Amino acid sequence: MATLQNKTVLVVGGSSGIGFGVALAALQSLASTVIIASSNAERVAGAVARLQAHKLPGEVRGEVVDAKDAAALKAFAAHVGAVDHIAWTSGDVPSSPEQAMAGLFTVRFWGPMILAQSATINAGGSFTLTGGPADIQPYQGLAINAGGCAAIEGLTKGLAVDLAPKGVRVNSISPGGIHTEIWEKFPPQFAELLQQGKEKLLIKRYAEPNEVAEAYIFLMKCGYITGQRINVDGGIGLA
Ligand SMILES: NC(=O)c1ccc[n+]([C@@H]2O[C@H](COP(=O)([O-])OP(=O)(O)OC[C@H]3O[C@@H](n4cnc5c(N)ncnc54)[C@H](OP(=O)(O)O)[C@@H]3O)[C@@H](O)[C@H]2O)c1
Repeated sequence: MATLQNKTVLVVGGSSGIGFGVALAALQSLASTVIIASSNAERVAGAVARLQAHKLPGEVRGEVVDAKDAAALKAFAAHVGAVDHIAWTSGDVPSSPEQAMAGLFTVRFWGPMILAQSATINAGGSFTLTGGPADIQPYQGLAINAGGCAAIEGLTKGLAVDLAPKGVRVNSISPGGIHTEIWEKFPPQFAELLQQGKEKLLIKRYAEPNEVAEAYIFLMKCGYITGQRINVDGGIGLA
């Protein structure tokens, strides 16, 4: 089986949740360097320390970048230099419905689009975006999420075409419910939605970050997949 030996992996959003899981899985897959980035310096430093505590062979570095700032993202791409694989898991929870457009599209859509276009990714490398299941099973009142997830899938295909001449593959993961820090940021009524949502899964539980991280690592290692979306969602929409 392939490993990530001699590869540099950048995880934007690696300071917590799914991204932290991807960073740890990359180290476990023998990546030589794992760089995690997010907007909060303290959280980045804490996550770097938690990754280093695993005492795995690869080097771990942290960087700070605000995905809402297009100029900062371009400067960040130049500063980081050439990498082999990028996973984008950054996402924030909008403080109000009015902020949903900015939150979803700015961080989760424009962020990876700008980085994919400005980063130096070695030939044979990959870029993986993060969508979600809202377009397969929209929740009442959350049409913006359904549109956003569909947009990320479309962006994945467009970027796969754009980056193919450089030998770079582009895919996305659509995680279902994954127990992460983001759940603590949701409004109280979300707990009820989560309970209802679990009943609609074929696998009647939510997942841990390491379970979805496997799929990101697969997309880095498999050289023959591009423009695809992998749903790691417990069978949403099938129950
Ligand atoms: N967990 C789930 O059930 C689930 C399901 C479907 C889709 N998703 C999506 O998957 C992605 C990851 O979710 P998660 O559960 O891992 O959430 P999480 O634990 O809250 O992680 C989100 C990451 O995004 C970073 N971030 C937030 N705002 C940022 C900004 N402006 N610039 C740069 N980084 C920023 C956070 O770090 P800082 O705060 O330090 O910036 C953190 O590292 C999100 O887009 C989420 O919507 C999650």
